Amino acid sequence: MQNNTENNILAAVDPTSIESIKSDYNSLDIGLGRGVYVSTYGCQMNVNDTERMYSLLEMAHFNPVQTPEEADLIIINACSIREKPVHKVYSEVGRYKKLKDKNPNLKIGVGGCVGQQEKEKLIKQQPLIDFVFGTDNIDNLPNLVSQVYETKGKEKIINAKFEHRAPYHVETLVRNPGVSTFVNIAKGCDNFCTFCVVPYTRGREKSRPLSHVVMDVRTLVQRGVKEVTLLGQNVNSYHTDNGAGGEYDFADLLKKVATDTDIERIRYTTSHPKDFNEKLMHVMADHQDKICEYVHLPFQSGSSSILEKMNRGYTREIYLEKIALMKKYIPNLVLSTDIIVGFPGETEADFQQTLDLVKEVQFETIFAFMYSPRPFTKAAQFTDQIPEYVKNQRLNHLFEVHEKMAFELVKKYQDQTLQVLVESINEQGKAQGRSTQNKLVYFMGTKELIGKTVPVRITQAFPSVFRGELCQ
Ligand code: SAH
Ligand code: SF4
Ligand code: F3S
Repeated sequence: MQNNTENNILAAVDPTSIESIKSDYNSLDIGLGRGVYVSTYGCQMNVNDTERMYSLLEMAHFNPVQTPEEADLIIINACSIREKPVHKVYSEVGRYKKLKDKNPNLKIGVGGCVGQQEKEKLIKQQPLIDFVFGTDNIDNLPNLVSQVYETKGKEKIINAKFEHRAPYHVETLVRNPGVSTFVNIAKGCDNFCTFCVVPYTRGREKSRPLSHVVMDVRTLVQRGVKEVTLLGQNVNSYHTDNGAGGEYDFADLLKKVATDTDIERIRYTTSHPKDFNEKLMHVMADHQDKICEYVHLPFQSGSSSILEKMNRGYTREIYLEKIALMKKYIPNLVLSTDIIVGFPGETEADFQQTLDLVKEVQFETIFAFMYSPRPFTKAAQFTDQIPEYVKNQRLNHLFEVHEKMAFELVKKYQDQTLQVLVESINEQGKAQGRSTQNKLVYFMGTKELIGKTVPVRITQAFPSVFRGELCQ
């Protein structure tokens, strides 16, 4: 099933393939063995971007290090989704002042969604920052750093333009892929939920060609990867040209990855309820041997009027109908979700509807946040903002309700045997892995189990972690 010829063809024709990037950057010995440290905040996309930055900088002869103290180049890959991310960046840079005093050659850069959002403002406010780059400029990072060293810090460098016209070609760059790896399939977002900064920090939505994703997964399989998580701001709005006047959608991609690669397990995140269609459910049901039965489907609010103000494109009823249909196709479905409390205008009755929806769907895991006004977004201008203490109370209440429920819900796993893909084992022989339900499971094992899927009987089930025994 592996297809090396296709891989080579891709490398030859695609100027953004790893091979072409490598040959460009290998000739750039700007690193001279200098230490590079990247500090990462935010979602999986940022974690993946950090790995890409390390890979690219390593190609240009930098040496990734474990602490900022060892570094000659520090990059803050910052997230802007909530709270006061810019302040976090300033305080982190402030902490590096004494390192800069000791090592005048130390350069500091800021990237990620904060770099994209704030651009030159960051440097105006905090002159210890030497360069800023955006979310579309990562592949240019070694060149950018080279410029920084050439100017000897006299000039500040800013590279935060969206590459609107460039196709989205990002072969996965990961130095030491473990058992499980993330694969970007789409970037950006065109949904413009009124609370969300992502469309402004990640730009317009773009999807990678289907054949590139499939080849990428095959290459990862050759490197020992057993599980991939297909990644995008909104994976199920994925769409690309199928070369025959039509389009491939996310269901087509998922099916192809399942049928045309030897990957053992497939997950994906994040999906949007408005784009979750029956075709996708069908593909999941048909390929349960590979596609995990765990779905993260953020609903944000249980109130249809708040959902409308959020511009989410679905109502409470539509969300519930889709969940019911998904459970028909995949009876063992496990769900998690994201929730925002205290969105402008949210009444006690609206909040109650959120609590009711959590109870009705019986989510095993929730990720809940207080609404945080973000730059450029519509909701930040809404006049009916909710006071902080009310948001705080609602969030605590939601967590209390969910915690009780989650303890009860996971009891069903007690004594069940789950299929666990083993990711690591520590010195004491404690193995760690994930079940198809995305449960983190610990049990005693041996090193040979790493990368294998093994049956583990669950002896203790808590909402966020399970303990078990290997079935012999
Ligand atoms: N694309 C995904 C969400 C990505 S952002 C989706 O549409 O579901 C991850 C989560 O952060 C969101 O689901 C939302 O719950 C939360 N979030 C985003 N903007 C926020 C804001 N301004 N305040 C609080 N939470 C926010
Ligand atoms: Fe943000 Fe909405 Fe896009 Fe998700 S779908 S990234 S919440 S704008
Ligand atoms: Fe944060 Fe940007 Fe991800 S704002 S959540 S790092 S897309």
